[in-house]
Amino acid sequence: MAFETLFSSYSFGSVTLPNRIVSTGHDTVMAHNGHVTDRLIAYHEARAKGGAGLIIVQVAGVHATARYTSHMLMADDDTCIEGYRTLAKKIHAQGTKVFGQLFHPGREIMETDDGTAPVAYAPSAVPNSRFAVMPVPLDQQMIDEIVDGYAASALRLKQSGLDGCEIVASHGYLPAQFLNPAVNRRTDRYGGDLENRMRFLDEIASAVRARVGDDFVIGLRISGEERDVEAMDKNEVVAVCETLDQKNAFDYYHVIAGTSASLAGAIHIVPPMYYETGYVAPFAARVKAVVKAPVMVTGRINQPQIAEQILAEGRADFCGMTRALIADPEMPNKALAQKLDDIRACIACNQACIGHFHKGYPISCIQYPETGRETTLAARKIPTRTKKNILIAGGGPAGMKAASVLAARGHHVTLCEASAQLGGQALLAQLLPGRAEFGGIITNLSREMDLAGVDVRRSTPVTRAFVEQERPDAVIIATGATARRPEFEGSDSAHIVTAWQALKGEANIGGRVVIAEWKGDWIGMGLAEKLAREGRKVTLATEMPMAGQALPFYVRDEMVARLHRAGVEIVPYARLYGTDAETVYFHHASSSEPIVMEGIETLILSQGHESARMLYDDLKVTDVAIHIIGDALAPRTAEEAVLDGLKLAVSDHFS
Ligand SMILES: Cc1cc2nc3c(=O)[nH]c(=O)nc-3n(C[C@H](O)[C@H](O)[C@H](O)COP(=O)(O)O)c2cc1C
Ligand code: SF4
Repeated sequence: MAFETLFSSYSFGSVTLPNRIVSTGHDTVMAHNGHVTDRLIAYHEARAKGGAGLIIVQVAGVHATARYTSHMLMADDDTCIEGYRTLAKKIHAQGTKVFGQLFHPGREIMETDDGTAPVAYAPSAVPNSRFAVMPVPLDQQMIDEIVDGYAASALRLKQSGLDGCEIVASHGYLPAQFLNPAVNRRTDRYGGDLENRMRFLDEIASAVRARVGDDFVIGLRISGEERDVEAMDKNEVVAVCETLDQKNAFDYYHVIAGTSASLAGAIHIVPPMYYETGYVAPFAARVKAVVKAPVMVTGRINQPQIAEQILAEGRADFCGMTRALIADPEMPNKALAQKLDDIRACIACNQACIGHFHKGYPISCIQYPETGRETTLAARKIPTRTKKNILIAGGGPAGMKAASVLAARGHHVTLCEASAQLGGQALLAQLLPGRAEFGGIITNLSREMDLAGVDVRRSTPVTRAFVEQERPDAVIIATGATARRPEFEGSDSAHIVTAWQALKGEANIGGRVVIAEWKGDWIGMGLAEKLAREGRKVTLATEMPMAGQALPFYVRDEMVARLHRAGVEIVPYARLYGTDAETVYFHHASSSEPIVMEGIETLILSQGHESARMLYDDLKVTDVAIHIIGDALAPRTAEEAVLDGLKLAVSDHFS
């Protein structure tokens, strides 16, 4: 594909972008005390070097009441300027343009920095359903102060050398709260008809323009569809953009989906793999049809081919490809060089990017843990001084990552996989409903091994005898894990199977099923959906307070929605105790009272995993240098497996 549009430059407002690929505003959890850090700079510099045309830096609060997390950027006083200035210089040095996001969350406040309940401000005292916040209605004085906060913050970004700013009126944040009649119940000049509801945004646009002049881009981020029961009318969204454009209020419109206001709407803020790639493009096209200013679109555009198609069809003028750049900062350069197979496409698992954000940790990527670790682990990926012969046992994510990094550093690496296919548990994970894209991690890591020149041997189990024959300098044991079958009353009964057996179709499953789930992850939930869709009556009994407790929120909520639609019964706090005949017994995890389920034909165990350490135990008694990583070390997720692989591959053992 020629990517004629994607790699054409584009001028609007006072800027010319070198191409149409944008890293859109995303909170990285790399700010400190509200300021830009070296870590944040290194993170963005990597994306600029990788060829992104525009980087829009994460939200920055415009007023003291805008702190929606404890780790966000603030632009509400001049102390922000120094950090932004260094950041802008580093990004500009790569030929990439840089904007900043200006933000007030209104009632959408997640947390405070000391764990107390927040005092949130919004147009009206209408609570939000996701964070259960009851806001205080804004009075005129605060409205004026906040509008001035946008203008003053915009000027600080300009003084820092940034090229523009983006007003975040998307995702149900403060300007969107004014626009939405379900949230804005005011009877003054800011409430009622659309003209009044637009007043707050109008005032922001005018105040910002008056302060920064015409040589600074001002954009608007807005949700084309909020996808919530109390959503803004999607036609009204288009009307808002049209009216603003007639007044030349903004230099571009940035259309996305979702709202922070509800669990359902929030899924679309960072849409998981259940949503089609590029599904937001039609929403952008609706806006593009009525505005003269250019339109940006973002949401599940994970490959340059998809971006090119959206642009070529005239549905938008540039594309946000945020997770695509989190997963592969070099994606633009690779696309330009037509090395499409080398692109590590984002699989929309949401685990280490938005998943980390929600836990309050710096973002990364499960496929590429170098992200967010640019100054630490990534900086250690240098050629080795002492070339070694390394044998890796196990071709799952841990072994593949270790192999590709070690080989890229100049070691001679042989990776042996006992089965005919690489991938380990990822091969099974991709079989869960709606999760086929997870298999992309195998494709991507395999490609990285090929590029690095790893000698890959499938259907080759590693034994002690094999090691003694090959005599490598070091053996890395990445033999993974097997399904855990705990012992309990009746655990040898015939109607018990493991989740993996059920998923692979290796066992007969009755029409009435209970899945005993332990850790609140994907497996029990995904299997429950699959079996229910096949017509079985399914109960998911989880030991956790809720199904999907361990999952990234947007994945959890999407999976719960799918189970609800499929008619799966969910029983929380259910700790497996035993089974006899057609009865399964649980303890309530907090009351210890029994929970009894009768008439069960098949009990499916989703009880986690046990490390496969046989080879490790065999080699421990020899003088071979051994290292153990991934689930073979301790059963966790693909994220930790890949990270283990990277950490070992850049460690002093292989310098
Ligand atoms: C870790 C993370 C943090 C985010 N924080 C913000 C934010 O600060 N402001 C914002 O407008 N959108 C935020 N987003 C949404 C992204 O800008 C983007 O719309 C979303 O990731 C979907 O695009 P993608 O599919 O290209 O990743 C965030 C996304 C991620 C992954
Ligand atoms: S962690 Fe998953 S969703 Fe996030 S960037 Fe990486 S592959 Fe994409």
